[in-house]
Amino acid sequence: MTDYLSLAEDIAREAGEMLLAKRPTMSRQVETKSSPTDVVTALDTASEQLIRERVRAARPGDRFLGEEGGEAPGESEVRWIVDPIDGTVNFLYGLPDWAVSIAVEVKGEVVAGVVNVPARGEVYTAALGRGAWLGGERLRCNTGVPLAQALVATGFGYFAGRREVQGEVVAKVLPRVRDIRRGGSCAVDLCSLAAGRVDAYYERGINPWDYAAAGLIAVEAGARLGGLHGRPVGPSYALCAAPGLFEELHDLLAPLDPERDA
Ligand code: IPD
Repeated sequence: MTDYLSLAEDIAREAGEMLLAKRPTMSRQVETKSSPTDVVTALDTASEQLIRERVRAARPGDRFLGEEGGEAPGESEVRWIVDPIDGTVNFLYGLPDWAVSIAVEVKGEVVAGVVNVPARGEVYTAALGRGAWLGGERLRCNTGVPLAQALVATGFGYFAGRREVQGEVVAKVLPRVRDIRRGGSCAVDLCSLAAGRVDAYYERGINPWDYAAAGLIAVEAGARLGGLHGRPVGPSYALCAAPGLFEELHDLLAPLDPERDA
């Protein structure tokens, strides 16, 4: 497990350095994906290519799932789940909350995760059962926070119909909590939760490459991660907070029927 983690960390650091160095000149080379606001920069592609090559060289038989290039099959029970830049819009605009996210899954279970936030100089790591770390500091999420005092991070999808419902939902959540934060990177939001910078997170429509590594980091910091109605976390819904707050936020969200799009 530690071998996976140190390889993932080395690769995430190398990709982050490349992105920081090239961002000033190349970040504006942009194409759109699922909607006019869903962008992929030339550097998303370059970062994923670098990560794929490093993983292939070190672990040739492993499977690979990347946001930009999709699934690459392999013989092994190990799969690398990679977001080469989570928070691409922040990256494009020069805001600091974007990350390289690398998770290692063995037989369907994430065992190691790294989230490198290069513009903040922060590298978050976790290994299953061995805690979550920011550099040398062990992370623990906030506990004992009631819903009314909770600082809640969330995000919005790229389709207008999804955003319409997400807007309705956040309008019902906002009066019941301390405040809302929309940071622009699911991976950074979950690491912020692990570090006690926010108390809770929810979002509809995130993908495994967004949450695989950071989800392990949040759970190893003591948080509960799941979907609605006892289901596992997934693209349909993601909810994360310390036990207690998780249930309170769940019971606020679930009756709003938030797993729908307009
Ligand atoms: C996005 C970010 C954002 C979240 C979106 C994601 P991308 O990932 O994580 O915070 O709200 O749902 O798609 O497109 O920047 O890799």
